[in-house]
Amino acid sequence: MAELVPSEILLSAAQIQKRVAELAVDIRRDFPDDVHFVAVLKGAFVFLSDLVRQMSGRISLDFMALSSYAKGTTSSGEVRLLKDLDTSLDGKNVVIVEDIVDTGLTLTYLQDILRARNPKALRTACLLSKPSRRQVDVKVEYIGFTIEDRFVVGYGLDYAEQHRNLPHIALMGS
Ligand code: IMP
Ligand code: MG
Repeated sequence: MAELVPSEILLSAAQIQKRVAELAVDIRRDFPDDVHFVAVLKGAFVFLSDLVRQMSGRISLDFMALSSYAKGTTSSGEVRLLKDLDTSLDGKNVVIVEDIVDTGLTLTYLQDILRARNPKALRTACLLSKPSRRQVDVKVEYIGFTIEDRFVVGYGLDYAEQHRNLPHIALMGS
């Protein structure tokens, strides 16, 4: 079997930068005074770093790490918390930052546990969304790009921990 490698470029670095700048404007418009980002490790680290550098004014940020338990080949929706936040969300305008929403199971879990921590507002930003894969109806207020059901890498997203460093989003092929 041929090895899978990043092949076709789906979204160029320039396309991504332009869209991230637009999302930063949307988020700042909705939260002009203060926003607290909660980024999901590891995939969201590139998106977060570009997003915050497109924003002026007050922002703070924190990280969380999750892993989903697989049951056979499909995600079970059971999610384990690997790293919790360092600071409280009480009274804050929180925006979750994720790389991609696929089945929606990870994000649903995350929104539920963060909502219980009493933020003033809770919204979600995802660079990518694959709506055709959705198993649960999860609310995402800021979406960078809607894509087809294809496995993508780059700009933080990995395949077996590789390709996170690509400045663009590529399809995997052989
Ligand atoms: P779900 O929405 O719970 O199914 O999980 C979303 C997570 O699956 C993302 O945070 C990624 O880590 C991973 N994922 C889903 N689709 C892709 C992809 O095309 N490339 C890389 N990772 C993906
Ligand atoms: Mg992820």
